[in-house]
Amino acid sequence: MPKINPTTTKAWKALQAHFEETKNLHIKDFFAEDGNRGKDFSISWKDFFVDVSKNRITPKTRELLLQLAEEVQLEKAIKAQFSGQKINETEERAVLHTALRDFSNMKPEVAASLQKMKDFSEKINNGVYKGATGKAIDTIVNIGIGGSHLGPEMVYEALAHYRKGVQLCFISNIDGDAVQATLDAIDPESTLFVVVSKSFTTKETLANAQFVKNWFISKLSKKAITTHFLAVSANATNVTAFGISEEKTFPMWDWVGGRFSLWSAAGFSVCCAIGYENFEDLLKGAHQMDVHFATAPFSENIPVALGLISVWYTNFYTCETEAVIPYCEALHKLIPYLQQSVMESNGKGIDRNGEAVNYQTGGIVWGATGTNAQHAFFQLLHQGTKIIPTDFICFTNSLRSNLELHEMLLANCLAQTEALATGKPYSAKEPYSSFTGNKPTTTIFIQELTPKNLGSLLAMYEHKIYVQGVVWNIFSYDQWGVQLGKEVATAILENVALLNGEHAIEYLEKRK
Ligand code: F6P
Repeated sequence: MPKINPTTTKAWKALQAHFEETKNLHIKDFFAEDGNRGKDFSISWKDFFVDVSKNRITPKTRELLLQLAEEVQLEKAIKAQFSGQKINETEERAVLHTALRDFSNMKPEVAASLQKMKDFSEKINNGVYKGATGKAIDTIVNIGIGGSHLGPEMVYEALAHYRKGVQLCFISNIDGDAVQATLDAIDPESTLFVVVSKSFTTKETLANAQFVKNWFISKLSKKAITTHFLAVSANATNVTAFGISEEKTFPMWDWVGGRFSLWSAAGFSVCCAIGYENFEDLLKGAHQMDVHFATAPFSENIPVALGLISVWYTNFYTCETEAVIPYCEALHKLIPYLQQSVMESNGKGIDRNGEAVNYQTGGIVWGATGTNAQHAFFQLLHQGTKIIPTDFICFTNSLRSNLELHEMLLANCLAQTEALATGKPYSAKEPYSSFTGNKPTTTIFIQELTPKNLGSLLAMYEHKIYVQGVVWNIFSYDQWGVQLGKEVATAILENVALLNGEHAIEYLEKRK
């Protein structure tokens, strides 16, 4: 991996000077000066049209950002990732979640795992695989946390329109009330429990799995566990110790990071819910974006453009956060999913040389679906004092032909980006209804919410993260920051039996 401090590059210094020169320019003037701006500052690719024209960037900004990409050797870093080099140096691992969706060059173990997912999901959905008492399976409970939960749940919700199999429930948090509420609503005789944990050491997942197992035994029998419990993990030893056989275990590999594992058997429950063909389409869509990222010139490369623009706002405008607003209710879980992938990846302060960085890294991601968000926090976007670069995601076609509502939804999306960019002049008569405008947005138009396009969209964000990480000279694919919390929690648990609220309060009082 290249190890270049971006602030030492010529482009960085030029961007600093350029920022001083352009920081007060207005987006609406960019449009007035350049009739072609909408076209010039957008990238059309397959079913995607990514419009970055309503950002605070000029042709010169673009030129300097591309120069920055060159100076930090982004191309070399992308090649290093796709060729399987151990770019996650702190864990000595390759980063190859992209290999999970490359059907033209598939590793035999990946192909075998997909075949097993296909066979198993089909058996479940056509009623051949039955519960221990002979009932067909109608529910799968996915037990896992972080990447072993957020991706599968997000895709399950996003592709609700394509459901053809079982319903899914998710147990992630160690919140006994929530876990019990899920269990109360299901029939153990027609339910499979899939314990998803790459490490099979994650305390929350193991505690929840054990709790569910005890509940299941009390409802059915110990013997029935072999039929009703499955695992997805890279840790065969711990899975066996838990009581799940090899036959009922799907593999994970150390070259797939947890937050990028959706494409592996971690997506098994989703595969059952939407059917294998749709799951395969999801993978194929992601692969198409991989090919685009790895081969398109940087000036026409969607993840590169998004990553560099984000660096521009983070490091020069000193923006702290970015919002994502999908004008699509089905994408409501995209935000927590992105929060993990973006912030667990780029929330780092030590660079690839092992030194503390002297510039900002990983932004904070937040958001909600539009139009709901318009009636919640858009006030701050429009008239607040902060600059919050915002992605607007919308689909040209509706899935259920509700054209009237869909047109309203789209009109709202477009109107918001327009109003944020243009604003409304100040008038002393009506000072409170003036808008400065000049609020940056990127609009991601996609033809339709299909499994394939969803795959491409998710891969687009994955690669954007990497582009930023490469520029910031950090390791995007480790997550040492999560370890400390885990260690402290273990220590506290050993010191005090946190069995009820009283003990917790006692502990906190002693610490004072
Ligand atoms: O939160 C840290 C993390 O390591 C994530 O990266 C991962 O998705 C999650 O924990 C769950 O890990 P596992 O799949 O090993 O249980």
